[in-house]
Amino acid sequence: MDLTQRPRRLRSDGVRSLVSETRLDPTDLVAPVFVDATTDERVPIESMPGHERVPVDQAVDRVEEVLATGVEAVIVFGVPESKDPEGARAWAEDGVVQRAVRAVTDETDAYVVTDVCFCEYTDHGHCGILEHGAREDPHMTVDNDRTLDRLRRTAVSHAEAGADMVAPSSMTDGMVGTVRAGLDEAGFDSLPVMSYAAKYESSFYGPFRDAADGAPAFGDRRHYQMDPANAREATREVALDVEQGADVLMVKPALPYLDVVRAVRESFDRPVAAYNVSGEYAMLHAAAEKGWLDLDAVAHESLLSIKRAGADLILTYFAENVAQQL
Ligand code: PBG
Repeated sequence: MDLTQRPRRLRSDGVRSLVSETRLDPTDLVAPVFVDATTDERVPIESMPGHERVPVDQAVDRVEEVLATGVEAVIVFGVPESKDPEGARAWAEDGVVQRAVRAVTDETDAYVVTDVCFCEYTDHGHCGILEHGAREDPHMTVDNDRTLDRLRRTAVSHAEAGADMVAPSSMTDGMVGTVRAGLDEAGFDSLPVMSYAAKYESSFYGPFRDAADGAPAFGDRRHYQMDPANAREATREVALDVEQGADVLMVKPALPYLDVVRAVRESFDRPVAAYNVSGEYAMLHAAAEKGWLDLDAVAHESLLSIKRAGADLILTYFAENVAQQL
């Protein structure tokens, strides 16, 4: 037996960190924050232990808690005071996200990203305006082109409120180009766009839909979000967003889609983001609660693996927990 090669030589305590290939840093992480216009006190999110929906007047406090852990960026989600078929509260100047973002950017140093979508704002819970008569139709779908104009308005309203980056997430064809053009026209040509570029129609979003009250009232999202069976299609989707001016390319979810994270990393010379989604968070918490997994360890290992696969930044509900471990 030839043992000239002994990989174990580089696994002793003194040398492990010298040869380690991947490093997690709190500044790689983006913490999701939920702001709720329907409440005046914090409401725990049952399926996402440790997370809460906070009233607008506590948005600053909530973000300060994130910053205290060393995480420097947040992504803000809003629950509006009312919903309608178009999701008009998404672009209202006094909307929940607009008010929260104004306060947070005035009063903190956080880097503030906003999610640009309609599922929390429409009464039917879909990510855009429905095609005429779609409610009765089992093959209902979102009207792609009429949704575009509303995405543009929403993104511009977030920019006007002070957002540092906008993240369109509706999987509307042409969303990045439309948002980019709208921002440029409104004078925000330096504001970057992070596209939810390869966003799958995933069952791992369940807990988020409780958190943000954005579950579809009927049907599902398979006519606009990507089919989990498809990897090569992700390259085509992402290429379109790059052509349309996306600055950061996101893959979502993260852990079940690390092949896609890697493919995007290798095919495009742009920063890659991965969204470690609510279901990925909830399942580790559930197992830890039963005593079956060590929560801190699996949270850290999950994020490390997402980075190792090629992500530069990670949106994760574990942001604060893991940053504190680092
Ligand atoms: C769309 C949006 C969703 C998530 C982030 N942005 C919901 C969806 O697409 O159904 C899910 C995030 C998660 O599960 O953590 N506004």
